[in-house]
Amino acid sequence: ALVVKHRIQSSGKWARAVAILKEFEDKCGTPIGKLRQIADAMTVEMHAGLASEGGSKLKMLISFVDNLPTGNEKGLFYALDLGGTNFRVLRVLLGGKESGVVKQESEEVSIPEHLMIGSSHELFDFIAAALAKFVATEGEGLHVSPGKQRELGFTFSFPVRQTSLSSGNLIKWTKGFSIEDAVGEDVVGELTKAMERIGLDMRVSALVNDTIGTLAGGRYHHQDVIAAVILGTGTNAAYVERAHAIPKWQGLLPKSGEMASILQILVINMEWGNFRSSHLPLTEYDQALDDESKNPGEQIFEKAISGMYLGEIVRRVLYRMAEEAAFFGDTVPPKLKIPYILRTPDMSAMHHDTSSDLKVVGNKLKDILEISNTSLKMRKVIVEVCDIVATRGARLSAAAIVGILKKLGRDTVRDGEKQKSVIALDGGLFEHYKKFSGCMKSTVKELLGEEVAENIVIEHFDDGSGIGAALLAASHSQYLEIEEP
Ligand code: GLC
Repeated sequence: ALVVKHRIQSSGKWARAVAILKEFEDKCGTPIGKLRQIADAMTVEMHAGLASEGGSKLKMLISFVDNLPTGNEKGLFYALDLGGTNFRVLRVLLGGKESGVVKQESEEVSIPEHLMIGSSHELFDFIAAALAKFVATEGEGLHVSPGKQRELGFTFSFPVRQTSLSSGNLIKWTKGFSIEDAVGEDVVGELTKAMERIGLDMRVSALVNDTIGTLAGGRYHHQDVIAAVILGTGTNAAYVERAHAIPKWQGLLPKSGEMASILQILVINMEWGNFRSSHLPLTEYDQALDDESKNPGEQIFEKAISGMYLGEIVRRVLYRMAEEAAFFGDTVPPKLKIPYILRTPDMSAMHHDTSSDLKVVGNKLKDILEISNTSLKMRKVIVEVCDIVATRGARLSAAAIVGILKKLGRDTVRDGEKQKSVIALDGGLFEHYKKFSGCMKSTVKELLGEEVAENIVIEHFDDGSGIGAALLAASHSQYLEIEEP
């Protein structure tokens, strides 16, 4: 009788776990109708953000980039890419129209966690030191001409209110960075001061968001690139807008400038990570994640989509199953209580496990969460949780991309006209989480329909953002005395 009772209890627990899973799945649903509403809401918010400062959750920041790389850029330039868990320094030799990128060297440095929440001084000192070390390795045939100052494109992937192409104030931190005394400051000023402190003579010629860098890098290879999307630690997009479609920019121009702006373009950094809409399929897990984050109430879209958060959402669902349905036995595995212990790359590895006994899932649970002896049935449930979280994120990012295409009138085929639109994608989530990127691309097709989708190309540009920043530094170099013909 005891055995029977135990069986009933455990099947009750199993049923409870399945109920938690089903409820989660329902709340995360992204039927096509909902995605269309989200794409429409994105278009509406884009208009609102362009109309006035503070007009929308979408900041629609003006990048001051009003022309994109042509291929004529020449010379040796540096780039610095700060924005995720690593930062990169880069040296590129640009050879102009004939030779393109002649040579490129880079180094990646991981940022110690305490610097992400410390002081501005410490962070920029650390960056300047790494940059100086890299500059010191400048070698044969890859050096700046004597007497010339080195120039740098600075990719800084946080919301910045630009005051010129090469200066701008940090609006707020995102993605786990939180350095109070840097908010409101000119980040180029901060970097320049740090470089001066260690005697590194370098000029920041361009300050760009990673989306802007990726757009510039993409355009260098493809004339038809009209937008760039980052799916990495965070998520965001930039696109090419007509200046006369930006009322808040028009308002700043003198009357005489208005005519001149008719043909002008400006690249807009949307900061779509901060998008929010009542149509978003959010759950109690998202709510709790947001409440306990470093930036509650901010970056709600990003928290449902990007690499920093997907694994954490999965952990929260598993935690609930452990607690309420004794999914992993009578006690909650202690490691499962630790926020962010389950990283998105590990979630991805479990999600892509093709072995018949889900060996990878079993090993990850053991190695990361110290949970052993999981049954195949349990592992399947865990893969299911990963699938729900990744699918929602991928489909929401597809809807957001369609929102941009709608804003540009590129979501339909007009008069049989076949106009190509290339969207440059970058970021570790897109690059490595194949089920995510696959689902994102197929959802874009599903939303647009075959005929339109034929003209939309979603292409991965590896490290577009670093090269892009170097290209923009080149086209805004202080040594550009002669205009290209
Ligand atoms: C965050 C930042 C944004 C950046 C994105 C991708 O959303 O706020 O500036 O582009 O992450 O790195």
